Amino acid sequence: MVDRKRRAPPGLSSTRRMGEATEHDMSDALNYLVKARPQTMGHYFRFLKEAGSQLDPKTRALISVITKVHAQTERGLRQYLKRALADGCSAAEILDALLMAFPALGLTRIVWAIDVILAMDLPEFALDHIGAEPAWHDLLDAESLAVGETRRIDREGRGLFVFRDTSRFRVYDSLCPHQGTNIPHLALQGETLTCPKHGWVFDVASGHCVAEGDAPLREHECRTEGGRLLAFW
Ligand code: FES
Repeated sequence: MVDRKRRAPPGLSSTRRMGEATEHDMSDALNYLVKARPQTMGHYFRFLKEAGSQLDPKTRALISVITKVHAQTERGLRQYLKRALADGCSAAEILDALLMAFPALGLTRIVWAIDVILAMDLPEFALDHIGAEPAWHDLLDAESLAVGETRRIDREGRGLFVFRDTSRFRVYDSLCPHQGTNIPHLALQGETLTCPKHGWVFDVASGHCVAEGDAPLREHECRTEGGRLLAFW
């Protein structure tokens, strides 16, 4: 499937925020307009940001997904799908949003979106997970992880990075918040995780993206019980 967006040209920061969009997301044409008409484009991006200011994050995320499907930008859909999940939207809610937008999207775009979603192999969209109530899942023996250690594990079809510091555990989804790449164990160096696809860099102590990108790792709530570490999804 052809993606209409291309990488930003050199000379523009990939991390500066402009409303909902970042230059990392934008096409060469938009980047050109930002340089050629900075004031006008600044108004445009402020408009986009203000337009969603009265909406809760989940609603904003669902509308962003629908606009990416309408424009059929595969890279944008992958990115905003991950954000929607990170903002708390369930797979069932995303599917409902797409189906409710049927009068605008039509069946062809919805099927295109489902093809993209299936290619991403997101565990949330597995048929036996759709509509399932969130629950606590057993991960590992809490004491098997040393303070300062990070371990990548797979549980129930989901890749996870588990980090332990002096006071708490943190559990992150291994799917990159940029375009859903399943980040492998080899991407880990000390407390830094670098996605092999486009090089977004994450700090496993906080989950924050510290270079190249602008979205954090998706974190799952966790707790210990009877010496076991559990996570909620
Ligand atoms: S998918 Fe692009 S940096 Fe991870």
